[in-house]
Amino acid sequence: MSGSTAFYQVEPHDRIHGELRVPGDKSVSHRAMMLGGIAEGITEVEGFLASADCLSTLNAMRQMGVAIEQSDAGRVRLTGVGLHGLQAPAGPLDMGNAGTAMRLSMGLLAGQGFDSVLVGDASLTRRPMERAAAPLRLMQARIDTTNGRPPVHLYGGQSLIGCEHDLQVASAQVKSAILLAGLYAQGTTTVLEHAITRDHTERMLQAFGVPVAVTPGRVALSSVSRLRATRIEVPGDISSAAFFLVAGALAATHGLIIRRVGMNPTRTGVVDILRAMGADIRVHALPDAGREPVADLEVYASELRGITIPEHLVPLAIDEFPVLFVAAAAAKGETLLRGAAELRVKESDRIAAMAEGLTRLGVEVEPYPDGLRIVGGPMSGGEIDSLGDHRIAMAFVIASLRASGPLTIKDVENVGTSYPDFVPAARAVGLKVERHS
Ligand code: S3P
Repeated sequence: MSGSTAFYQVEPHDRIHGELRVPGDKSVSHRAMMLGGIAEGITEVEGFLASADCLSTLNAMRQMGVAIEQSDAGRVRLTGVGLHGLQAPAGPLDMGNAGTAMRLSMGLLAGQGFDSVLVGDASLTRRPMERAAAPLRLMQARIDTTNGRPPVHLYGGQSLIGCEHDLQVASAQVKSAILLAGLYAQGTTTVLEHAITRDHTERMLQAFGVPVAVTPGRVALSSVSRLRATRIEVPGDISSAAFFLVAGALAATHGLIIRRVGMNPTRTGVVDILRAMGADIRVHALPDAGREPVADLEVYASELRGITIPEHLVPLAIDEFPVLFVAAAAAKGETLLRGAAELRVKESDRIAAMAEGLTRLGVEVEPYPDGLRIVGGPMSGGEIDSLGDHRIAMAFVIASLRASGPLTIKDVENVGTSYPDFVPAARAVGLKVERHS
């Protein structure tokens, strides 16, 4: 909930060490609930991220008639109802803070026989939904947004038609919404991409037995009669690991190990960017988790230097920029990011939120409409407003490894949307963070 009274108090500290395992991948967890729900048979999910965001998707599938058991937080068993087995929900589906839940659900629900309404919290209600609605309308879906934002109304009983979409924004959520609608459309649904975005939907559809034709810049599928239930092992979330990769690069003199992190090549921009800044990150590949590559990551403290971030890496690290900006503030020299206007429409305006927070800590920054310039240098303590954005809150906890005084980070309730156990994990490796409410 944005505007929460929960806050973090963080004492400066300059050494961390040890080993940890980060929670399951958020993107993969959302998709497992959706595809498991419309498959035929029982889908077992191991390593599900039981965070507020993914529970929004889980609950939405339950409200549409999918039987879902959670034997422990990360172990979920879904009895799929089949492609055409979802039932009309009794009321609006609440997607909370989760853009992924809402945009992917738009695709899933566009081809159903019933009407549905998608709502979200204050942050989600400010976020753009036409980017998903417009291409779905080209497939004959009937969808109304509210001035481009939630609530979103979907009208059932439409006969969807597959078509070719030229993606205007580099967005895996939009691509995925189109592909999910494509499962219900007549003919072939094709997405043309100008930049590489995460491909978990394509991989997981294949795991459920759906043929997906993937060639560089192009994804296509045709409707199928069924999805075959399967077993999904969710790898650790590299977006959560990113906080500890930066922490390790700043302060793990004797090393920090992060176990079983998903290393899908459409997600590893953070490793490439940190290495280009001089970070010592070692990747120890493990057997794949289903169709997703996995590795143990080992990171050692090193002197970081500022860089110009290559634009092609932006979609591959899109969620990791808040903590990468902290790395840039701690680096020698200047870091420049451009081509990242998408950061302005995430859970908060992440360019503005990070520029404001870093300025408060005495860091020289220059925001642009599509990026940020950061001059590395000393950081003071101070009071930071996370604006209810989980990744802004966690990024400033990592800044405590360079700050000269204590940090108070406000409005941190939403850390539970992606990393409910962040504070104990951070404390276990040596960060001096305490949560107060
Ligand atoms: C996601 C895609 C990205 C990312 C989000 C999760 C997904 O959003 O920022 O956290 O699971 O598909 P966009 O596709 O809008 O860039």
